Amino acid sequence: MDVTIFEFISGLEADLVNFYKQLKLATRLPRSAEVVDLMIRQSGGHSDTVEALTKKHRKPEFQKEFFLDIHRQIKTSLIDEIREAGDTGEVIEKLARSEELVSKMYTVLAQYYKKLGEYYRDIAIEIEEIAAEEIDHRDVLLNEKRKYAR
Ligand SMILES: [Fe+2]
Repeated sequence: MDVTIFEFISGLEADLVNFYKQLKLATRLPRSAEVVDLMIRQSGGHSDTVEALTKKHRKPEFQKEFFLDIHRQIKTSLIDEIREAGDTGEVIEKLARSEELVSKMYTVLAQYYKKLGEYYRDIAIEIEEIAAEEIDHRDVLLNEKRKYAR
């Protein structure tokens, strides 16, 4: 299975944990060790919670066989019905009925794309939440900056 967007983001956050850990080792921020630890915890938390979102959002599968089956069924039953039809009017009526079934098939196909749209919309909402949380992290850091104000 492909790496989901959430696994991808989780990997980015895990990498940030390493980044902050290295920063700490480099003792670039001796007076802000606490805030660096907080960033490590928050990125680590993101990494874990975001990975779990993979299970929460399942991509709707395209059931190609389902549509091919319906298509075959329509053709098969239509041929039988036309053969057995009493007059031309009845043949036309059977053809009209088959077009209606094809229409139903496309309605199901359209529903699949609507579900796919909802799936992607839900993913976007999750990512927007992560974006908002990063703004909180920014504010924590900006608050920390006050310590160094001259
Ligand atoms: Fe962050």
